[in-house]
Amino acid sequence: MGKREFKPGNMLNPLPVVMVTCLDEEGKPNIITVAWAGTINTNPPMASISVRPSRYSYAGISKRKAFVINLVSEELTKAADYCGVKSGRDVDKFKECNLTPCKVPGTDIPGIAESPCNIYCEVVEEKLLGSHAMFISNVCGIQVDDQYFDEKDAFHLNDAKLVTYSHGQYRKMGNSIGKFGFSVQKSKKKKLRKFGI
Ligand SMILES: Cc1cc2nc3c(=O)[nH]c(=O)nc-3n(C[C@H](O)[C@H](O)[C@H](O)COP(=O)(O)O)c2cc1C
Repeated sequence: MGKREFKPGNMLNPLPVVMVTCLDEEGKPNIITVAWAGTINTNPPMASISVRPSRYSYAGISKRKAFVINLVSEELTKAADYCGVKSGRDVDKFKECNLTPCKVPGTDIPGIAESPCNIYCEVVEEKLLGSHAMFISNVCGIQVDDQYFDEKDAFHLNDAKLVTYSHGQYRKMGNSIGKFGFSVQKSKKKKLRKFGI
């Protein structure tokens, strides 16, 4: 059993895959699929996307300094792929994918109504890294579908069947195998034993 050396590249996996909505330089809505997206700060909440300057979406995002991240559910996967292979230069992706633009608080950039969650971001810095320009952004507004709240108003994002992108494939998420902190949590049995029960 050995390890094989690999040439340096983007091996970090799995990745989120998101549909970013933006306005072009004339103000027409477009959608670009992005896997180079990340959470980069908690307080203030910040996210980044990296976009090649050759993408049609680039100029509009750079000019408006704003975009909306739309999370991708299993149902949206085909549309996400389409928006990642077709350009807004040639097609109206909202129309071709039968997607509905929706109002997102704080911005006139439409979100995708069929997405479980729309995240409005304002760019604070654009950094040309090489092949991609990274838009470092503040998260300024979020809206989520009503259906993911239970009767006690608790939010269940994992019910939205979000997809992930790994090694060139869109993948469903599996079952939970633990929650935050479970490795150090005392089991019920042990707790009961501690109390002599
Ligand atoms: C799964 C997937 C992930 C992608 N991730 C990115 C990305 O992170 N950055 C980027 O610039 N392009 C990415 N692309 C490519 C763009 O989405 C694609 O070139 C798209 O057609 C650009 O649209 P536009 O010309 O309307 O801007 C990705 C494509 C796919 C299918």
